[in-house]
Amino acid sequence: MNSRYLEVEVNSLGSGGDGVAETGEGRIFIPYSAPGDHLRVRLAEKPSSTMRAEIVERLKDGPSRREPVCPHFSVCGGCAVQHVSEESYRAWKYSLVSDALAHRGIGPAVVRQVVPGRVGLRRRTRLHARLTARGAVLGYLTVRSHRIVPVSECPVLVPAIVDFFEPLRALLTKFLSRGQEAEIAVTLCGTGLDVSIAMGKSLQLAERKKLVSFADANNLARLSWQPLQRGKVGELETVIRRLPPTIAYAGINVEIPPDAFVQATAEGEAVLRDAVLASTAGSRRVADLFAGCGAFSLPVAAAGVHVTAIDSAADQIASLENAARHAMLGEFVRTETRDLNRRPLMAEELKVFDSVILDPPRAGAMVQAKLLADSSVPTVVYVSCNPASFARDARIMIDGGYDLRTVTPVDQFLFSPHIELVATFRRPI
Ligand SMILES: C[S@@+](CC[C@H](N)C(=O)[O-])C[C@H]1O[C@@H](n2cnc3c(N)ncnc32)[C@H](O)[C@@H]1O
Repeated sequence: MNSRYLEVEVNSLGSGGDGVAETGEGRIFIPYSAPGDHLRVRLAEKPSSTMRAEIVERLKDGPSRREPVCPHFSVCGGCAVQHVSEESYRAWKYSLVSDALAHRGIGPAVVRQVVPGRVGLRRRTRLHARLTARGAVLGYLTVRSHRIVPVSECPVLVPAIVDFFEPLRALLTKFLSRGQEAEIAVTLCGTGLDVSIAMGKSLQLAERKKLVSFADANNLARLSWQPLQRGKVGELETVIRRLPPTIAYAGINVEIPPDAFVQATAEGEAVLRDAVLASTAGSRRVADLFAGCGAFSLPVAAAGVHVTAIDSAADQIASLENAARHAMLGEFVRTETRDLNRRPLMAEELKVFDSVILDPPRAGAMVQAKLLADSSVPTVVYVSCNPASFARDARIMIDGGYDLRTVTPVDQFLFSPHIELVATFRRPI
């Protein structure tokens, strides 16, 4: 099939970060283009419901275009928007939230300014590796293909993780066989890096010794291993725990389980925590649903409030409970391991709480939102990493009589099409 070329002008940035050109043929999505760009583009040949194209030539740059901060931008697939001015970037991030709300009939008056992110703050990442004839390639998976793009730097990440790329690559060159792949989760904790490697290999004694030496040489807090067999993951095993891998919530150290959920940046987490504390101030009993390892439960309990923390991950709940006990907050924290989609908190259970905190995964918390909509809980604080599922649940809550007071976007996922937000709902008295 012959390629088709067009000359277009880009009108806006779409929700995925691609530039959007409105043309006589319809909307065309063009990655790494900026509003106002005049471009020669090649239309994608694969038929699909959305028209896509790639830049062949930049004929004239739009007024907001700027140099990206990373040499891997547009190749590695990790970032979608680094190439527009700060002002345009922030307006785009704002629109991710305001457009999702508008789609559910909720106006922008409640949406506050975006709390900006900064480079060098992201404290967790997931890397991919594969052994080639020239050693291990370590980097990110491209968006649409399943290719690993090698990266030597990543300005979004904390420097401690970037500095670890090369030692990790050297280790994997020894551990992988030709063509074999590995997936590596790295989190920066208060005591050093917490690293989990998943690979199609079970460990022999000699390999364990090498891993222990590697952890010592690189001052890792913990190194875990997870065998992969035909795409299925085996049990995650701690090879060495040199130091307890801890994250501090309101000064309370929590030893997190391997590959546990932690907010992407400590700074973003502080903004979310402060908003949660402000909105729940004056409450006597708070439910923290989707509580993880206690990012909100522990600060709320430290303020002398009784908290019921619920999450489906038993290991995270155990970490939270241990931390509360060590901090002498046991009497303020009750925990439960529970799947809140299958067994949400029912009317009888909800009625004892003055405030409910919700921080679900990307899919949102529709089942629980419906039950809250019928409840008399005075305050709901909703933390979300997905404006679309949040807007759906917000509509349910508003239809149930809640006022949506504020929505604050927090740019925890710098340069990506993701945005965090924290919102407060109050039931009118
Ligand atoms: C976005 S994280 C938030 C964790 C915590 N609030 C924090 O800020 O660190 C979402 C949490 O929801 C939990 N989760 C996912 N599905 C769940 C379900 N069906 N029921 C209960 N918890 C669930 C995950 O284990 C994870 O800890």
